[in-house]
Amino acid sequence: MAHRWKNTLTDRDVTEESVYLNRRQIMAGLGGLGLAGIAGTTARAASEDLEPNSWEDITSYNNFYEFGTGKDDPARNAHALTTSPWTVKIDGMVDKPGDYAFEDIMKAMTVEERIYRFRCVEAWSMVVPWNGFELADLLNMAGVQSGAKYVAFETLYRPEEMFGQKYPVLDWPYVEGLRLDEAMHPLTIMATGIYGREIPNQNGAPLRLVVPWKYGFKSIKSVVRISLTDKEPPVSWNVAIPREYGFYSNVNPTVDHPRWSQATERKIGGGLFARRQPTLMFNGYEQEVASLYDGMDLKKFF
Ligand code: MTE
Repeated sequence: MAHRWKNTLTDRDVTEESVYLNRRQIMAGLGGLGLAGIAGTTARAASEDLEPNSWEDITSYNNFYEFGTGKDDPARNAHALTTSPWTVKIDGMVDKPGDYAFEDIMKAMTVEERIYRFRCVEAWSMVVPWNGFELADLLNMAGVQSGAKYVAFETLYRPEEMFGQKYPVLDWPYVEGLRLDEAMHPLTIMATGIYGREIPNQNGAPLRLVVPWKYGFKSIKSVVRISLTDKEPPVSWNVAIPREYGFYSNVNPTVDHPRWSQATERKIGGGLFARRQPTLMFNGYEQEVASLYDGMDLKKFF
């Protein structure tokens, strides 16, 4: 594994976006992009398609059905969510099950920056400069027992604050799952910030999963429970519409959604006449993750 650029947040990191972007460009020039450091630079990884979207784009165009189904609903409504105190229950096949306070998790984890492509199954995309820690570090803290094969995730269920949960749009709470090797992959993070600031409620405060080579719905928000298990866990969108949304949901331009093509995507923020861009296999992380799926039929396991 190539050298990783680590970055523990300090208040120096809470900078104006414009200053921040300048700094990013300088670092890109030095070959210091977080992602490039993680597992070797792919040709496109350091190119302009990793130009981060603005804070405004990232925090005003969201999917968070607990706060409404419109793209601007979460930004308008998610302030109702109380994110402190916050605990994450880690249970199932772990040595140290328990209710972990968010602050204690943050004290134990190393927060770093990761600039990732983010590709929604609806064929739009963004580039987001997340701050977060590797999920593997959290799982190792809890001690994964041999025999565990999957990780199940659950979002908070609190209809008094999340009014969307009063409507049967999905089977609440929102749940997700990964195979253990996907969860332990160094690209998989729990995000706690964006642009060096605390992650806003509409993006999944105080901590949400980010799996950059999978469609965005895998990246479950406002997580309160993480369970290690030996059975494939349920996935909210798969439970709702199984023929459209699979367990794996790896970004794949050659496997179309039954109702639309996945070959191209619209990058948010490009304006009305922006050209669609080609979607990359595993969202551009093929070199890093393809081996996880060696020998698997990706059309069958979509
Ligand atoms: N997590 C929860 N709990 N509820 C949701 O509705 N939407 C998913 C995912 N995580 C969702 C969720 C979908 S469809 C996408 S594309 C991403 O969150 C959107 O993340 P963003 O709003 O930060 O871009």
